[in-house]
Formats: sequence, C-alpha cells, structure tokens
Amino acid sequence: MADLAENASPAAVTDRPVGGPLVVLSGVEKHFGPLHVLQHVDLTVHRGEVVVVIGPSGSGKSTLCRTINRLETIDSGTITIDGRELPAEGRDLARLRADVGMVFQSFNLFAHKTVLENVTLGPVRAKGVKRSVAKDRAMELLRRVGVADQAHKLPAQLSGGQQQRVAIARALAMDPKVMLFDEPTSALDPEMINEVLDVMVGLAREGMTMLVVTHEMGFARRAAHRVVFMDGGQVVEEADPETFFTAPTSTRARDFLSKILTH
Ligand SMILES: Nc1ncnc2c1ncn2[C@@H]1O[C@H](COP(=O)(O)OP(=O)(O)O)[C@@H](O)[C@H]1O
Ligand SMILES: [Mg+2]
Repeated sequence: MADLAENASPAAVTDRPVGGPLVVLSGVEKHFGPLHVLQHVDLTVHRGEVVVVIGPSGSGKSTLCRTINRLETIDSGTITIDGRELPAEGRDLARLRADVGMVFQSFNLFAHKTVLENVTLGPVRAKGVKRSVAKDRAMELLRRVGVADQAHKLPAQLSGGQQQRVAIARALAMDPKVMLFDEPTSALDPEMINEVLDVMVGLAREGMTMLVVTHEMGFARRAAHRVVFMDGGQVVEEADPETFFTAPTSTRARDFLSKILTH
C-alpha cells in the first residue's frame, strides 16, 4: 500500500479536459440471491476520463466492473456505452466486449500460447483482422508496454509484472473505447507494482478512458480525474483525488481511509 505522504506530489497528470459521457450506469441494481450487491448505482465515465474506484472488500467493485462488460447481468437500471445500451447476447454482445477492455487481478493469459499469440488472437478471432496485421500491431503494443523482447516466451516464463503488462497489451489490441482495471496490481510483488502503474499512467496521459479499481493512492493522485468510493454496494462519495484523500466527507470513507493509511 502506498503511503499517502510519500505520494503527496500535487501535480496530477490529467489536467486535460474530458469529453462527453462514454459509460453511463443509471439506477443499476444487482442481487446475488439475497445479497444486494449493487444498490442503485449511478455512475458516468466521460470520454478520456480516468475514474478510480476504491472501497472495502466486498463492496461491489468487481461486480461493478463485470456488469460493464456484461460478464454479469443486472436486475434493473441501464448501462450504456457510447450511447448504446448493453446488448443481451449474440454478435452485438461480442462487439460490445471488444469495446470494453478488461484487466484482472489474475493475469488470465492463455498459458499454452506465446506472449505474441496472446496479444494476436483476439483481433484475429473476434474482429477478423489479418494475422500478419494483428502480429505487427501486437509487437507495437508489446514494445509500448516494454515486453517486446519476451514476445516468443510462454506467460509462465515471465514475471508477474511482465505478465500483467502483456494482459494490458492484449486488451489494447482490441482497440477498446474504455479500459477496465480490477485491482491490476494486487497480485504483484511490491517491486513490480510500479512497472504496471507506469504503463497505466502512460495510457491515461494518452487520453484512454479508464475505470480503475485500485487502492494505489499514488496512482489515483497521479492519474485520476475522479475517485469514486463504494461501500455496501453503493456509491457513497465521489471527488477529485486531492479532495477525497485529504477531506473525505462521509464517515464511511474516513473510516476506510484511516484503515488503509495506518497499516
Ligand atoms: N458470483 C457471485 N455469487 C454470489 N455472491 C457473489 C458473487 N460475486 C460476488 N459476490 C458477493 O458480492 C459482494 C460483492 O463482491 P465484489 O463485487 O467481488 O466486491 P469487491 O470487488 O468490492 O471486493 C461480496 O459480498 C461477494 O461475496
Ligand atoms: Mg474485487
């Protein structure tokens, strides 16, 4: 966990303006049996905006991400991406999935395919991109995340930080409109966290729309336009990172921050 004082540099990299709404959740409700995991969630992520979602374990952060690319259905409310409501199934759903890149805590790479194949496969299979074109683009992305020299290895031969950067490249290969990151550094050894966060900051600088579940406050301060605090399936509070970390208004956010800042 990053220490707040160590990351107190005030200059956010994201002073650039953001565009219109890209991902819009409106009155979203979700139950798992009797458990009300998303309680009337309203959340808008604008084009080019970086939103960090923070909150205690079990507060619904992963479920929120999973509903946005329809890995989970919702009970009621609406979710639109670029003005279009999430399709239920079929070809439209596949297209939507291509619009939403997702990076998980566990890297989820195909274990028996090389790094290069991992990044090439999606565009070839789901978008019908020619293999040679997809390969060139994959190499370009692998260079961008700093692992081009690992292209012909299997994932298990890479460090966790390298694997997670491959996972980012793989998501980017689909040319997503928005990238979702669900605790992308939580499974990494401490010395590998920054190499992944640096890639994410780079993406943020380039204007990628991002929803990032993370407790890395250094990242939030460097790259987020907005912090959204969730607790008990609700969006309890949202603010710019400086305001949120220095002057949270809700008791629940203050309690949470005091816990993560003191251990
Ligand atoms: N597939 C599922 N079936 C039943 N309960 C689930 C399922 N996925 C998550 N939950 C529960 O929903 C709540 C929210 O989980 P999650 O979205 O993973 O929270 P977070 O990511 O904030 O830790 C938790 O109580 C969790 O146990
Ligand atoms: Mg989670």
